[in-house]
Parts: sequence; C-alpha cells; structure tokens
Amino acid sequence: MSTPEPEGTMRTTFGAGIDKEGPGRFEGALHRQDPLHASDEDWPADVRAQLEADAAEIIARYPQKRSALLPILHLIQSVDGYVTGRGVQFCAELLDLTTAEVAGVATFYTQYKRHPNGEYTVGVCTNTLCAIMGGDQIFEAVSERLGIGHDETTPDGKITLEGVECNAACDFAPVVMVNWEFFDNQTPESATELVDDLRGGKPVTPTRGAGRVCTFKQVSRVLAGFNDGLSDEGVGAGAPSLAGLKLAKERGWTAPGDEATPGDQDVTSDGAPQAGGEHSSTDSPATGDKEVDR
Ligand code: FES
Repeated sequence: MSTPEPEGTMRTTFGAGIDKEGPGRFEGALHRQDPLHASDEDWPADVRAQLEADAAEIIARYPQKRSALLPILHLIQSVDGYVTGRGVQFCAELLDLTTAEVAGVATFYTQYKRHPNGEYTVGVCTNTLCAIMGGDQIFEAVSERLGIGHDETTPDGKITLEGVECNAACDFAPVVMVNWEFFDNQTPESATELVDDLRGGKPVTPTRGAGRVCTFKQVSRVLAGFNDGLSDEGVGAGAPSLAGLKLAKERGWTAPGDEATPGDQDVTSDGAPQAGGEHSSTDSPATGDKEVDR
C-alpha cells in the first residue's frame, strides 16, 4: 500500500529510482506550477526604463518586431528570474501581440520558466548515451543530495534540478550542465560535490568553455543577446570531439566525393576546425577503400 503524499509535494518518475514514495520526499522544495499571472506588480521606474531601452535594442535587430519575442523573454528572465505576468504583458504591449500569444511561446520552450528559477540550473543528461554511462545514477544521487526532483528548486533558491535531453556532448558522457556550461565525464560523486559547492557558494569551473559559471539571470541576459565577453573563453571542442578529424587529417582519409582532404579544407594543424570552415559530414557513407585501424 502506498503512503499518501503530503500536500504540496511532487512525485516524478524521472530517472531510475527517483519515483520514491513517502512523506516529505520533496517537502520544502520550491517550484510549484505558479501561473503566469504571478508578479503582476509593475517594476520600479528605473528597472522598467532599462528594460524598455534593452528591448528597443533587441527589436531593432529584426525586420519585424514580433521576431524579438524570444530574446525579450530571456531579457525578462534576466530581471525577474522567470517569465512573470508583468513580463508577458510587457512583451505583448511592445510587440503588438496578445498575452495568449506570448504565453503560448513562453510555455512551449523549456528554457522559459513559469516559476522562480534557482540561481543555478543543474541539468543532468539522462538521454541515451549519458544514461548508459551513468546519467541516471547521477540524477538519482544529486536528487537525493538536494532533496528535490525534476524541475524543483531547493528551499534556499540556489539550485533548480532538471533532467535534460542530449546536450550534443555525448563524447564526454555522462554530462552535467550548470546554467548551460559543461561539466564532462561526471560521476555521482563528482556531481554531488558540484552541487555542494554551488550551494556553499564555492566557485566551480566548467570542464570546457568559460572559466566560470554565471548565474541564471546573468546567463539569461546573454541569451537575450547582450554579450558578456565570455563566449570565446576556453576550449569549445575538446580532444574527444576532434579525435576522428585529427586521425583523418594525419592519414589523408577522405569521404567519397570529397576532392580535398579535411586538412586542405577546414582543419588546422592541431586538428581544430577553422572559423568559417566546412564541418559537415558528407551525404555518402564512408567506404572501405582505405584501411582503417581499429
Ligand atoms: S546523451 Fe548526454 S550529451 Fe548526448
């Protein structure tokens, strides 16, 4: 017989072993499906003035102003921490849309939050490759440590935990993201230490890319199109991503139909892709006309 859950708690079937029963399993976790009409109170005048100036800059990037909706929703999150009711109203008035149209977009994409988000979104990849490499165990360990489930936030407002789909970083599986910065080759132990450090206010360093993790609000401003200068920090594609390309260059392998070698075309001497080079694979599968070491 199952134990009735306390009111206000959430059960989730996300991740192996996460669907646990018992009173207080997620007690105290924040998130709840707050409706979009939360936070209807207007911003202070100076905040609104800055928002309007930033929004005008975003709108000027597009031939039609309604195209600015996605970045302006990120801009709202950079101020409010989620898509508030006043944010929906702001977008609608500015872009000549209905609030239903804005809300329809804001509720479609998972990067737009309907409730206050934590300072850090910890996304544990449990898609196919990460799952078989331990992603489910990582999610379970982090969930247990934080006492929250998928899409819930710790009572101190520090961390929102999410189970996420493939981050296109399968060669570094299992992967954890913190505000969309990579933490590669994780284990339940390293991921637990990571969230402990985040909650404890210790600086954490991504394994690739930027040298530090920004807050959810800071990252939201970047997603709105305001550069924080960190985009070129660190290595984007690490050695595992480039291993095949490097080997092909060293051995002069080409795909059928390609006249130039990868080295001639778009790869630097260290195997890194050149800016503006062609990185796409060919439409034709590789054939066995050259010997391949295994
Ligand atoms: S399956 Fe996790 S990054 Fe691709």
